[in-house]
Amino acid sequence: MQSFDLTIVGAGAAGLFCAGIAGQRGLRVLLIDHAAKLAEKIRISGGGRCNFTNREAGPSNFLSDNPAFCRSALARYTAKDFIGLVQRHGIAFHEKHKGQLFCDDSAEQIIQMLLLECEAGGVERWQPCTVADVRRVDGGFELETSRGLVSSQRVVVATGGLSIPKIGASDWGLRLAQRFGHRLVEPRPALVPLTFAPEDWAPFADLAGLSLPVELSCGQGKARGRFFEDLLFTHRGLSGPAILQISSFWHEGQELQLDLAPEHDLADVLGELKAGSRRHLANEIAALLPQRLAQAWLQRLKLDATRPMPECKDKDLLQLADSLKRWRLKPNGSEGWRKAEVMRGGVDTRELSSQTMESRLVPGLHFIGEVVDVTGWLGGYNFQWAWSSAAACALSVDAIPSANLAGSLAN
Ligand code: FDA
Repeated sequence: MQSFDLTIVGAGAAGLFCAGIAGQRGLRVLLIDHAAKLAEKIRISGGGRCNFTNREAGPSNFLSDNPAFCRSALARYTAKDFIGLVQRHGIAFHEKHKGQLFCDDSAEQIIQMLLLECEAGGVERWQPCTVADVRRVDGGFELETSRGLVSSQRVVVATGGLSIPKIGASDWGLRLAQRFGHRLVEPRPALVPLTFAPEDWAPFADLAGLSLPVELSCGQGKARGRFFEDLLFTHRGLSGPAILQISSFWHEGQELQLDLAPEHDLADVLGELKAGSRRHLANEIAALLPQRLAQAWLQRLKLDATRPMPECKDKDLLQLADSLKRWRLKPNGSEGWRKAEVMRGGVDTRELSSQTMESRLVPGLHFIGEVVDVTGWLGGYNFQWAWSSAAACALSVDAIPSANLAGSLAN
């Protein structure tokens, strides 16, 4: 039986990063992944350029049933720390939007960087390799893997979330957590397009492909989300950054509230145009909104597009302004795990240490990354959580002299 100080299951963002740090601190680390290809989610992230962090990442950009949990890890290993690492590896990057940092060339560079860090730490990687069972034994754990039995002082679960099953996502980490007595916060798809009943969506289906900046909100009180981002109409519903963001806040049955003209006080603007313009309603509204949307809205409200502004009724202009500024609509669901970028929910953080990510129920068992009930907004925050939670774990576990470990675990 081979023995290690630390065995990490899941060689994605969090697992690779944790392995590199722990290895470089002198721990004997085994990293296991069941997928044939390494770190597929990093590879496809950010449209192939990996939005690897966000300059502004802070606790308020994360959702969890226990919102304070992420504070300590995010403060200990910050976006600035990860940017420093990327710079030391000579990877060129740029800021795209609201603090979001992307590789200039390819996400592959982040994977190569993480591999080099693992190499520097002498990490042993078994891939593809499955883990059939994890048992507690004296002084640690025993893992039954497809490459034989392994003994390990500590086990780190870094198996990620449930989104995109075809590239390796599994519920293994969630099931293991439950088997060891952990509670789960119900997992559900997040950062995902939302769908509508076909009969509700029919009037908007022709707008597919249209994108515009909106203000979008949903929920109440502390659970309220509100974003100014781009919205994209699709054949089945809505997508784009605004919807992906709000999808993490949305619960079945809730209404979304959209302001389709957030830069204009439309009631005032239309009132002024009525007094000062002789052009048709359709021309004026198309100057304020994308033309296709303007047309669709006038049709929807059965307003005469060719009516000159001075002849428009105040009541109609107010109704038009109100319906664009306060569009309320109720999704019937989401595009699900197939399209979700991340999972909301996961291992309940109230049974984990926020300093070390270690289980409070099973000493030596840690959970890091997306499998934990901490979900970032869209924009590099989820990778920052992977890095920060991995560092919290890797920096907290002590290197155990190998002679002692072999002695305590060999049986
Ligand atoms: P991750 O999913 O990276 O790794 C989990 C690993 O565990 C995988 O390698 C998997 O094969 C392995 N595994 C699963 N079950 C196993 C089992 N039973 N046995 C062994 N191994 C197992 N975030 C961001 O911040 N910026 C971005 O640009 C994007 N873009 C993006 C695009 C798309 C299309 C998706 C789907 C997601 C993103 N994300 C993102 C989210 C980001 O990819 C995600 O939050 C992190 O990869 C999570 O890191 P983890 O290491 O926790 O899981």
